[in-house]
Amino acid sequence: MELSVVVGDIAGQAVDAIVVNLFKGVDSPGGATGAVDGAIGGAISRLIAAGEIKGGRGEVTVIHTLGDAYPGFAPDRVIVAGLGSPEEFDLDGVRSVSAVVARRLRSLNVDSAATIVHGAGIGGLDAGLCAEALAEGAILGSYRFDKYRTSSKPSFDETKPKTLALVEQDATKISALEAGVARGQVFASASVAARDMVSEPANVLHPTRLAEIANEIATEGGVDIEILERADCEALGMGAYVGVALGSHQPPKFIHMTYEGDPGNPDNNLWIVGKGITFDSGGISLKAGANMGAMKGDMSGGAAAIAAMQGIAALKPTLNVHVVCAATENMPGGGAQRPGDVVIAMGGKSIEVDNTDAEGRLTLADAIGFARSKGAKRVVDIATLTGAIIVALGSGHSGAFSNDDELVGQVIAAGAKRGEPVWRMPLDPITKKQNKSDIADLKNTGGRAAGSIAAAHFIGEFAGDTPWVHLDIAATNMGRSVHDWEPDGATGVPTRTLIQLALDLGS
Ligand code: BES
Ligand code: MN
Ligand code: ZN
Repeated sequence: MELSVVVGDIAGQAVDAIVVNLFKGVDSPGGATGAVDGAIGGAISRLIAAGEIKGGRGEVTVIHTLGDAYPGFAPDRVIVAGLGSPEEFDLDGVRSVSAVVARRLRSLNVDSAATIVHGAGIGGLDAGLCAEALAEGAILGSYRFDKYRTSSKPSFDETKPKTLALVEQDATKISALEAGVARGQVFASASVAARDMVSEPANVLHPTRLAEIANEIATEGGVDIEILERADCEALGMGAYVGVALGSHQPPKFIHMTYEGDPGNPDNNLWIVGKGITFDSGGISLKAGANMGAMKGDMSGGAAAIAAMQGIAALKPTLNVHVVCAATENMPGGGAQRPGDVVIAMGGKSIEVDNTDAEGRLTLADAIGFARSKGAKRVVDIATLTGAIIVALGSGHSGAFSNDDELVGQVIAAGAKRGEPVWRMPLDPITKKQNKSDIADLKNTGGRAAGSIAAAHFIGEFAGDTPWVHLDIAATNMGRSVHDWEPDGATGVPTRTLIQLALDLGS
C-alpha cells in the first residue's frame, strides 16, 4: 500500500473509494463528511435518519455511488467510518478506524482510495500525530503472514488497496501530515519486521538466522553490529547463557547492535535487551505438548529489540542505543544441562538451575551482565518470561518491573503513545526471598506464588543499581486481535514503544 498526502477536497478525488467519518450522535454531518453528503444527494444523512449509520466505533458503511450516479462525483464508493463518541476518541481510535477501513478496502478489491485524516477535524487531535496513527493502523491492520500457504490462499488480493491518499483541505497542515505519514511508516515497518521474525517457524528462524536478520537491519540502517560466538561468550564468563544452549544442535549467537546518536557522550545511552529463545521446549524440564508450537515466539523480545533498531536508525534520536539479544534454542538432549546443575553467570554469581524451563532469566542474566560491563546507564529488557504474567494481566498490558521510577514512567508513557499498554508490577522484598538457593547464590525458580515477580527479581539481581525496566510480554507478543491494528498472531509488541522511548530520551 502506497501512502500519500494530497491537498484538496475529498469529494473531488478521482479514486475507487473515498473514506469519510462520523462521530456517534451526529445526525447532520459537517466538514468533509457534510460536503460529501451534499455531493451524493444527502445519502449519508438519510442513512443516519434511517438508523443504518450510527457512528459507533468500528462501524463501516459502504455506499455504492458507482462512479456515475451523481454528476461531478467520481468515486465508485463512499465509505463512512464510525468513530464512536468524541470524548473517548484518541490516537488509538485513529489506529483502529484506519485498520478496520484498510481491511474493508482490501476485501472490496479497491485499487485506489482517499481518506480524510480521522481525528484531525472536529476530533481536535494534532494533525501530524493523526496522520502517523492512520499510517500505522493501515499498515499494521493489513498485516498477514502467508508466505507458507501454497493453497487455501485468502479470497482477496493482499496488495489492495494499492494507493491510499490522505486528503486535507488546509495547505498549511500538509508538511505536518507528510512528516506524520513518514514516521508512521517507519514505526509500522519496524513492527512488521518484528512480527515476521516471531511468525517464522523455529526450523527456519534459529539463532543463526536471527543474527542474519539483525545483520541485514544493521547494514540497511548503517548501525554497527557484532555477533559473539559460543567461544566468545564462554571467554566472557557467560555460564548462564551458554548453559541454556548446551542441549541444542543450533549454535548460539549473541547479537549486539550499536547506534551512535550521541557519540561525544557515551554515557547518554539506552541498552535494549531482548530475550532470544528461538524455540523453548523447556529443555530437560520438558514442556507439555499442548501449544508448545507457540514457543517459536519465545524470541519476541529479541525480535522487538532488533526491529526497534530499524526504526531508531531511521529516526535518529540524540542518544546511543545498544540492542542485545542472547539468542539460543532451549532443547533437551544428551548435552543439555540438568535440573540441579550450578552455573556461573558473567560477573561471578552462581545459579542453581532448578528448572531448565526457566531459561529466559538465565540468558538475560548474562545479556544484562554484558550491558553493564560495557557501561550501560539505562537497561530495558523485554522477554516472554513467564506464564504467570498471562494469569496476572491477560493481553491488556505488558507487565513492567523496575528499580527506577523515572525510567519505568518513561516506558509506560511511550507505550501509551503507541497503543501498547504497560502496567507496573511490584518488586516486593517478600517475593524476592523465593529465589534463595540451598547451594548457590540464587536459584532460577521461585515457586508458583507471584511467578512473574520472582522472575523479575532474579533479573534484577543482575541489573544491580543500574536504572532498569523489565517488560514481561508473554501475554502481549501474540494474540487474537486484541487491538484492531493487531490481526491474529504476532503483534510486534513492544517494538513501537521502544522506538518511541528512544525518541523521548534522545530529543
Ligand atoms: N517462555 C516461557 C514463558 C511463556 C509461557 C511464554 C507461556 C509465553 C507463553 C518461559 O521460558 C517459561 O517456561 N517459564 C516458566 C517458568 C517456570 C519454570 C518457573 C513458566 O512460566 O512456567
Ligand atoms: Mn521456558
Ligand atoms: Zn522461555
